[in-house]
Amino acid sequence: MLETIREQCETCRKCTLWKARTNVVFGRGNEKAKLLFVGEAPGANEDLTGKPFVGAAGKLLDTYLAAVGIGEDAYYIANILKCRPPHNRDPLPEEEDACKPYLDEQIRAIDPKLIVCLGRIAAMRLIKPDFAITREHGRVFTVSARKLLAVFHPAALLRDPRKKEAMLLDFKEIARLLETL
Ligand code: URA
Ligand code: SF4
Repeated sequence: MLETIREQCETCRKCTLWKARTNVVFGRGNEKAKLLFVGEAPGANEDLTGKPFVGAAGKLLDTYLAAVGIGEDAYYIANILKCRPPHNRDPLPEEEDACKPYLDEQIRAIDPKLIVCLGRIAAMRLIKPDFAITREHGRVFTVSARKLLAVFHPAALLRDPRKKEAMLLDFKEIARLLETL
């Protein structure tokens, strides 16, 4: 099921981002995981490797996962956009609209118990359009009978290390929730 969606993405030209991509960045991890992380869009390292969150932001994310004991087989990770926007600019609404159906199908196939949005862009798409990350990170929302929660984007922590304390608390909460699901 996921393989079929991946194949569709590999040849996708639904928005203009296909033109500059080196690789489609579909997702990685355990396809049966209870936990799904959703980021924004691939960056340079992701475009080159075809894997999400393998650059600096990914390395930082790994430290939080390790700190709360969430192993690699406990989650799947993907992005709203499967192709890299030029110069890592924010996704355009029409690009999100074009690509979101692939994520919806991934969610259906994986059927996670908890979705964690990495950053405001994913939270605005998956939780609510007016999501306020500074105020509402770490809070559990129920959307279409699924639990969702957003944390700061790891790249935001690289810019503002003062957010790191809150990030660790949110990850502790994610690990705790996971035990109950
Ligand atoms: N930032 C994202 O949102 N996604 C990635 O895959 C890498 C960096
Ligand atoms: Fe297709 Fe998504 Fe890539 Fe746009 S970003 S070309 S919709 S796979």
